[in-house]
Amino acid sequence: MSDKPEKLITDDGLRLDGRRADEIRPMKIEVGVLSRADGSCYLEWGKNKILVGVFGPREAHPRRSQRADNAVIRYRYNMASFSVEDRARPGPSRRSIEISKVSREAFEPVIMTELFPKTAIDIFVEVLQADAGTRTAAINASSIALADAGIPMKGLITSCAFGKVDGQIVLDLNKEEDNYGEADFPVAMTQDGDITLLQMDGHLTPEEIKKGLELVKKGCKEILEIQRAVLRKKFETPVEEPEEET
Ligand code: CDP
Repeated sequence: MSDKPEKLITDDGLRLDGRRADEIRPMKIEVGVLSRADGSCYLEWGKNKILVGVFGPREAHPRRSQRADNAVIRYRYNMASFSVEDRARPGPSRRSIEISKVSREAFEPVIMTELFPKTAIDIFVEVLQADAGTRTAAINASSIALADAGIPMKGLITSCAFGKVDGQIVLDLNKEEDNYGEADFPVAMTQDGDITLLQMDGHLTPEEIKKGLELVKKGCKEILEIQRAVLRKKFETPVEEPEEET
């Protein structure tokens, strides 16, 4: 790992990657990239690269995992061994189990599970390259993959973190800021702004949290627009009519 830079925010108020405090990293989304999945998404956010496949609703196995009145949502967050600087050990870790749990819970309020009793909806997340904010990136990608799979939802889920770097509240930490910053605060929300995931690593005052949540709301609004544009493009593509025989 590189040494701590002297300053993470320059005197001009710019971060080391050139962003202002309230700016998110550039995001690129492709939808429907896996032919065997019911829905899928590839998302790049800064240097993060995330692939998500959604399967279902399909009969839940083992049978004892079925719920009589609802679909079960299963979310598996996995880091490829080559996704980080020091090789990530294959298989579940405490961290990946925690991220999978909180991410599943972030979707539970919007997925209409009551429509599909006894089934499972599987969300598989593969982090191909990590650069801080992978759980938020994965949630944004999962939201698109779920929509691509046609899973009925009350709305999209959008996710972004804020943090504290050199004493300043900034949006969407990159790896250096995550490593050497003072706090990291990932959030996910519905399109109406109801929070479905909230975590905190580090120390923040109530005022700093208030300020950070305002930034996150702004970031999530921008991400929601990107998500909507991608889905609109996918689903508004006109189906070609077969030529009429003369
Ligand atoms: O990725 P996210 O910010 O959601 O989770 P984190 O636990 O705060 O991890 C921050 C970053 O640390 C990840 O995005 C990776 O870049 C890095 N990391 C790593 O290098 N090796 C790991 N085993 C786990 C995380």
